[in-house]
Amino acid sequence: MKKNLLILISIVLIFSSFKKSNVDEQPDQRVDSVLRLMTIDEKIGQLVLYSSSWDITGSTIKEDYIDDIRKGKCGNIFNAHTVAFVSKLQKIAVEESRMKIPLLFGYDVIHGHKTIFPISLGESASWDMEAIEKGARVAAIESAASGLNWTFAPMCDISVEPRWGRVSEGAGEDPFLGSKIAEARVRGFQGTNNNLSDSLTILACVKHFAAYGAPQAGRDYNTVDMSKRVFLETYLPPYKAAIHAGAMSIMTSFNELDGVPSTGNKYLLTDLLRNELGFTGFVVTDYTSINEMVNHGVVANEDEAGLLAIKAGVDMDMQGEVYSKYLKKQVENGLVDVKLIDDAVRRVLRVKFMLGLFDDPYKYCNPTREKRLIYAPEHLNAALDVAKKSIVLLKNENQVLPLRKGEKIAVIGELADSKRDLLGSWKAAGDWKFMKSILDELKEYNGAQNVIYAEGCKKMGEDRSGFSKAMATARKASKIVLVIGEDAEWSGEAASRTNINIPGVQTELLKQLKTLNKPIILVLMNGRPLVLSKENELADAMLESWFPGTMGGKAITEVLFGEYNPSGKLTMTFPLNLGQVPIYYYAKNTGRPIYIENPKYKSRYIDSPNDPLFPFGYGLSYTTFKYSEIKLSSNELTDKGELKASVTVKNTGTYDGEEVVQCYVRDLVGSVTRPVKELKGFEKIALKAGESKTVTFTITPEMLAFHRLDMSYGTEPGDYKLFIGGNSRDVQEANFKLK
Ligand code: GLC
Repeated sequence: MKKNLLILISIVLIFSSFKKSNVDEQPDQRVDSVLRLMTIDEKIGQLVLYSSSWDITGSTIKEDYIDDIRKGKCGNIFNAHTVAFVSKLQKIAVEESRMKIPLLFGYDVIHGHKTIFPISLGESASWDMEAIEKGARVAAIESAASGLNWTFAPMCDISVEPRWGRVSEGAGEDPFLGSKIAEARVRGFQGTNNNLSDSLTILACVKHFAAYGAPQAGRDYNTVDMSKRVFLETYLPPYKAAIHAGAMSIMTSFNELDGVPSTGNKYLLTDLLRNELGFTGFVVTDYTSINEMVNHGVVANEDEAGLLAIKAGVDMDMQGEVYSKYLKKQVENGLVDVKLIDDAVRRVLRVKFMLGLFDDPYKYCNPTREKRLIYAPEHLNAALDVAKKSIVLLKNENQVLPLRKGEKIAVIGELADSKRDLLGSWKAAGDWKFMKSILDELKEYNGAQNVIYAEGCKKMGEDRSGFSKAMATARKASKIVLVIGEDAEWSGEAASRTNINIPGVQTELLKQLKTLNKPIILVLMNGRPLVLSKENELADAMLESWFPGTMGGKAITEVLFGEYNPSGKLTMTFPLNLGQVPIYYYAKNTGRPIYIENPKYKSRYIDSPNDPLFPFGYGLSYTTFKYSEIKLSSNELTDKGELKASVTVKNTGTYDGEEVVQCYVRDLVGSVTRPVKELKGFEKIALKAGESKTVTFTITPEMLAFHRLDMSYGTEPGDYKLFIGGNSRDVQEANFKLK
């Protein structure tokens, strides 16, 4: 009794002393003063993360997690939110457990918490880092207001695999753009100065480390096997950027890499992550990914899996109950040095101190703030702004768009009147009942009498019974707006597809509507690149709207009627057919590139062109832009110098608009083969009709570094091409030498 009293007094003294000290002044000293009071069970408890039963994002749930919180055997919770529920659980931790250590509360706030932004792949198509940061900022504010202090985002997995449903959560195929977006999202979540003690910032979690976006055959959780050079050049950069932006947690991926599951991969989690990249936060696994190493076949049982994970560098076990079951015994049997446990606990406690949770465990639990901030008007406006900027105009034959206010339009398709699908996958706590569908917004904007609707067919299935009504409806209108695509849950986790066409009979309906000889505008809702060759032939205009979020209906309406001139650009290549996949712009030239005469013995298909339907960086506008020749400050770049490349872009159309000016380079000769293009810069500019602007990119030798034949990272002198244009295909060209 006396001993416990003494401990209680020391805990109160330790915690109360923190109020005066600046949280960031002596993190380790404070952490150690708590650590030394903890039993081995309490230490292991800090390495345990359980889901509440509020939301299911994996295959198992532990019902008695509340009792574990009370006993100090669970120090972290996810899938629990709202101030009421978080306060209840936090109270148990800080008032009923012995050590009174506050809980972390995590959630998958991927593209919004309540106010939902476009899915991340959609947001990335805005190429607008401010807009993307704003989306993460609003997500942080609303989730923090709901009691959360940790999000399992940004997802930084590069991918060239449209069959993989999780491309919807990422930033597309390019490492340079993906890195910029990862940084923007970390800034949004953690605040521009990574001020985690601010009660409106939340802990970011870089995921899924590593190379989860390259599953063979696009099948989720499947084997990932790539050269170390491809991993370092293409897949690592966004994780690295997010870490250097200050992210303080990272999540291991389900996949193996080079034969070793990430969750037991000491090269990834210690040698690379900590020793090379200098990561100082903590490592959490993905959902039961420690347990799954038994299935991978690198351990015989969960006991061994726990051993492999803790020695590889995993700090926290998400939902696996492996650390809670086996770690203590492994320490007692001398299989695990308690120092490993202490280091892991130290990293977790340090983040809890940085978040200010020891100073005030209820700092995220303010019900008044929750009411005021959730769905705040400025958040909805931000979601509308980002949704508009994410929409990509893929086709606009004969300027059929924008629509004219008051003209009679037929709106067809189940998705046109769906609110739920607008939110996409990983919709966190987003509601949709109060939202307006695309149809609602079109009626409101254009007058209900000018908008007639027929469902036509479902977003999936073979039922054609609605076709005739759709045809009859379309006959009464001057233009047809057909909304087709995927169900919101057909992308995201565990949602791989073996074909990436428009599902069901939606395209058949398009074909029938085409016989009416009226302009058809396709609005696409999808979470991945699709094969749109047929649709592209049949439609007069095509808008890629992704899953545009809470304000998506309004965003699509404002773009259709020209209130906003679409400015989005694809961040993943859209193939002509599935047989081309994987297809991406930074391909190698090969020994037999097709762009030479005598096409037989060349790298080609006998049944398809090589080129995709829509290339990386592609997107149209209601106006047109003309690019001048590239002007170089010099044709030589010295190893300490820099080279300026400028173009003048003119808006040659009749609409004000925005253009994403993109800059690529090609290293013509390297000690290893080099991509035919690599994105090295971009700038989104606004131009009034008739206006011109000069855009200048600065090229430095560091930007041209790569992993050379001996795997050393650096540059090689030689000839380069430089390209500037509005996508990765239609570019101006110039040459320079790196001395
Ligand atoms: C899921 C996902 C991961 C998510 C986690 C928690 O399995 O792979 O992205 O953050 O579990 O929900």
